[in-house]
Amino acid sequence: MSKVELVIVLAAGEGTRMKSKSAKVLHEIAGRTIIENLLAAVKPLEAKNLTVVVGSHKDEVIEHLSKIAPKAKTVFQEKRNGTGGAAQLALASHKGDGTVLILAGDTPLLTTQTLQEFIDLHASQKNKASVLTALLPDPTGYGRIIRGDDGAILKIVEEKDAADSEKDIDEINTGVYLFESKVLSAVISKIQSNNSQKELYLTDVISLLNDQKDFAHAILSNDYTETLGINDRTQLAECAAIMRDRINNQHMLAGVSIIDPTTTWIDAGVKIEADVVIYPSSSISGESVIKSGAIIGPRTTLVDCEVGSDASVIESFATKSKIGAGAKVGPYTYLRKGTVLDSDSKAGAFVEIKNSTVGKGSKVAHLSYVGDAQIGQESNIGAATVFVNYDGENKHQTKIGDQVRIGSDTMLVAPVTIGDGAYTAAGSVINEDVPAGAIGIGRARQVNILGWVLKKRKDSKSAAAAKKAGAKE
Ligand code: UD1
Ligand code: CA
Repeated sequence: MSKVELVIVLAAGEGTRMKSKSAKVLHEIAGRTIIENLLAAVKPLEAKNLTVVVGSHKDEVIEHLSKIAPKAKTVFQEKRNGTGGAAQLALASHKGDGTVLILAGDTPLLTTQTLQEFIDLHASQKNKASVLTALLPDPTGYGRIIRGDDGAILKIVEEKDAADSEKDIDEINTGVYLFESKVLSAVISKIQSNNSQKELYLTDVISLLNDQKDFAHAILSNDYTETLGINDRTQLAECAAIMRDRINNQHMLAGVSIIDPTTTWIDAGVKIEADVVIYPSSSISGESVIKSGAIIGPRTTLVDCEVGSDASVIESFATKSKIGAGAKVGPYTYLRKGTVLDSDSKAGAFVEIKNSTVGKGSKVAHLSYVGDAQIGQESNIGAATVFVNYDGENKHQTKIGDQVRIGSDTMLVAPVTIGDGAYTAAGSVINEDVPAGAIGIGRARQVNILGWVLKKRKDSKSAAAAKKAGAKE
């Protein structure tokens, strides 16, 4: 338990550098918004209160927070006058004493463990103010940590206000701070906007505290990748790649084979059992669950899907579908919302299925469209069958029993029912029910006109071949 009284998340900024119609903190990494990733790390700290400062795109952000953190309080920063202004508002709206953890809403890679260690050090050192810092290979854009000869932090200088010599410093401010609330409240009203951005910088409280001998402490984190902030789309991609590696490593250590982790993208909410194998260029997102022994990929996208044990999904795209144990999907299969493939069933090449159940052991092997259908067990849907479910106005259901054989190129005009053990003849248009055990034939009877080629295509190569075969006019 962290013993933090209040967590303040600053998320009011304009996010100008994202050049986006939506709020910066609502952009996604691993299937969760930037702020959702941050709050997931904050939650286990069990802080007493959580306040999020909102401003730009406030309605969108508040709406999102009501879903992901319903207990969070929001404070509106009408005039975006800087991180210092945002922190002032959050602090003013809170009565209690104790330790305050301040975070920037745009640092999604922070972990609970790092935050807890930071909190523990702040407490054990009895600090009044602590700043989490990091050594970055490229510190450009961040506030720099200026330390005195004794190593203690003197102040934080923003990139835009930094002298060239200060820009050479590679220790940066991560935007994560701990303050004893009374100390911060007393000093935060003193910050001024006499800087290059004409903003109230929260970072200025460090030197103000030092001036009044309430010394601040800089605590260096040991993994700089956790502290990266997102200001533009290149940083969004950079952080997404770090999160991808983190998630993939966890799965691999838990027994999942990922053949090419650099091209495999798995959302944070996905569950994968041991002995699943994932081939390159695949993405598994949303709330998908993959059971032991399943094979996914290459080049497969699964969104909110359940894949049963020992099933395979190869070179395919599936969304909101259930793929049963031992079922085979792909290559080149498109499974849409509401598809249920029962165990040991098959959806093969160039097959599209939506809102349909394919029963145990049944096969839709090639070139078919299945929409709004219930298919029983061990039935076979011949190549190029179309479930004609739409009459231009409404969608209709098709029912297929057990042990049915639908001939290739059948059009099943819904609503229609095919009984258990029934057949349809290849090339049929079936718009009436076929009873159990019957064959439905819905096509014109074939007529052969003997000698037609010899008469009508006299000098053709076909006529010559026919003659050679003994055909007569
Ligand atoms: C800030 C720090 C910088 C640090 C970096 C770490 C300041 C002055 N600078 O810079 O030292 O290295 O974070 O990532 O604090 N925000 C508001 N209201 C505002 C302005 C910003 O709520 O008026 C929020 C933003 O939504 C964002 C966070 O505060 O989530 C940080 O703001 P941003 O503009 O991204 O600051 P940086 O330039 O990254
Ligand atoms: Ca930032």
